[in-house]
Amino acid sequence: MEDTEHIVAEAMAEAESAESSRALYEVKMKFLGRTGKVTALLKGMRDVAQELRPAFGKRINDLREKLETLFEDLEKKVKKRELQKKLSEEQIDVTMPGRRTAAGALHPITRTRDELIDIFAGMGFEVFEGPEIETEYYNFTALNTPADHPARDMQDTFYIRDGILLRTQTSAGQIRLMEKKKPPIKMLSPGRVYRADDDATHSPMFHQMEGLVVDKNVTLCDLQGMLDEFARKMFAETAKTRLRPSYFPFTEPSVEVDVSCSACGGKGCSLCKGTGWIEVLGAGMVNRRVLENCGIDSAEYGGFAFGMGIERIAMLKYGVRHIRAFFENDTRFLEQFKD
Ligand code: DAH
Repeated sequence: MEDTEHIVAEAMAEAESAESSRALYEVKMKFLGRTGKVTALLKGMRDVAQELRPAFGKRINDLREKLETLFEDLEKKVKKRELQKKLSEEQIDVTMPGRRTAAGALHPITRTRDELIDIFAGMGFEVFEGPEIETEYYNFTALNTPADHPARDMQDTFYIRDGILLRTQTSAGQIRLMEKKKPPIKMLSPGRVYRADDDATHSPMFHQMEGLVVDKNVTLCDLQGMLDEFARKMFAETAKTRLRPSYFPFTEPSVEVDVSCSACGGKGCSLCKGTGWIEVLGAGMVNRRVLENCGIDSAEYGGFAFGMGIERIAMLKYGVRHIRAFFENDTRFLEQFKD
């Protein structure tokens, strides 16, 4: 008979050196498992003489109990150690700063467009958007721009095919709206326009904001009153406008509209080239022929219209010198327009 004390000593030594609960389990199986040493002893009972069996059996049972308690105690200790290790390894520092997600922001042109819409919506204008691919009729003919007008030249206009082009001006929307809606009309039409033009202040694609008012007894004074309101809200509370005679085929009379320079307050600086004024848009009283082209009686109704470049407004407002900056998608530039 193998010495039971010896087995206990062996089991204790192995169990105590087990570092993990997994290793400890393996030691336990080695002694108490189905093919373990203690189990083998029990199986060996058969070969023990009848009279010695009770004493032998008791001894083995004691041994098993002893080992079971030993493993139980050790299991508790190992589990506790493992838990502590896990807790200390998985500790989180709640004071550590979180990871920031970069938030996007509206593009400066979108912001400027929205600001313009807000200003004019406050004066009762409704937004109407026309298509970017237009017919020559809406972009030119109906706007009283004859076939031999230089604006129709291939050098200014992107033609898609005969009679179809990328609109050069949001003014085309005026016709589309007047064909559908009868006066009174107060329309605002923002959108992309295209011209074969490319330098520091011109881009082949840019944005315009068109305005159109058609009603009875509309005067140039109404136009200037609204533009004054626009200049005050967009640039400075003290901003003023000035109208200069000009020419557009679709307006008569036509004007260029200047806004007092917000950089120098009208005294004259490098931005306004010493004049105190900055040209911001074209406007005028809607040419009667344009009204008639849309079936509106020009004896009863009159109107005014204006068109401005959204990039130009944004460049003036934010002091941007090169129009390309808006389209290069350089986040260092764009981020400056975040709130
Ligand atoms: N369509 C003109 C342009 O692109 C701007 C403009 C001038 C629009 C006078 C108007 C207007 O509605 O009345 O240069």
